[in-house]
Amino acid sequence: MPLLGVNIDHVATVRQARRTDEPDPVWAAVQAELGGADGITFHLREDRRHINDRDARLLKETVATKLNMEMAAADEIVAIAAELRPDQCTLVPERREELTTEGGLDVVGHRERMTRVVSRLREVGIVMSAFIEPIEDQIVASAEVGFEGIELWTGGYAHATSDQDRGAALEVLRRAIAVGAEQGLAVHAGHGLTYRNVAPVAALPGFVEFNIGHSIVARSVFSGLASAVREMKALLLRHAPK
Ligand code: PXP
Repeated sequence: MPLLGVNIDHVATVRQARRTDEPDPVWAAVQAELGGADGITFHLREDRRHINDRDARLLKETVATKLNMEMAAADEIVAIAAELRPDQCTLVPERREELTTEGGLDVVGHRERMTRVVSRLREVGIVMSAFIEPIEDQIVASAEVGFEGIELWTGGYAHATSDQDRGAALEVLRRAIAVGAEQGLAVHAGHGLTYRNVAPVAALPGFVEFNIGHSIVARSVFSGLASAVREMKALLLRHAPK
């Protein structure tokens, strides 16, 4: 059974457009869970451009499913995560000028720092996952530094503009899932997945969890969040490998 983690950052993005108190991402988490979300994902960015510390605190208190915190391996954020203790932390690269997370973490190039952060957060009981590109060296390094899971960046597939490129990107993901499984890692998927493009990714055997944000929040403007989540969950189930 594929699990759906709903990323609610963009509910907070709308709130921050007016620096007011609505819409509340904490309400969004409740609605997502009512729609069948298996988990709630949020990204506490260093610049707090959408989710803020109050949101993180209240999400920790109210989310009844799995709480997944995306974060940079920055000292301030690591300290917050260690105190908050979400169920899972997904380490992501973060650049101030980006619109959203672009590409994966370079675990190979930052082994020492990754090892330190992973062991600090595992020590307090948090399951650690690395958001990486589907590259063998990055997958092996993720296992070596102590991550228990990886989230494969699906942007290569989502941004492909021809059937041939999409097919090639799916093959890259298929191989990466196998490498992850060989390394004993739980393999997740995320970035750029939409109602229109998710089916072939959902059909790949081996993904445990899908983290999807923008497309679900975009549809929720018209159909409500619980209904948007229900629809995405149904798609994942319909196309899951038998
Ligand atoms: N997974 C990770 C690690 C991300 O950084 C993001 C974007 O915040 C997502 C999943 C969700 O991507 P999207 O909003 O494109 O569905």
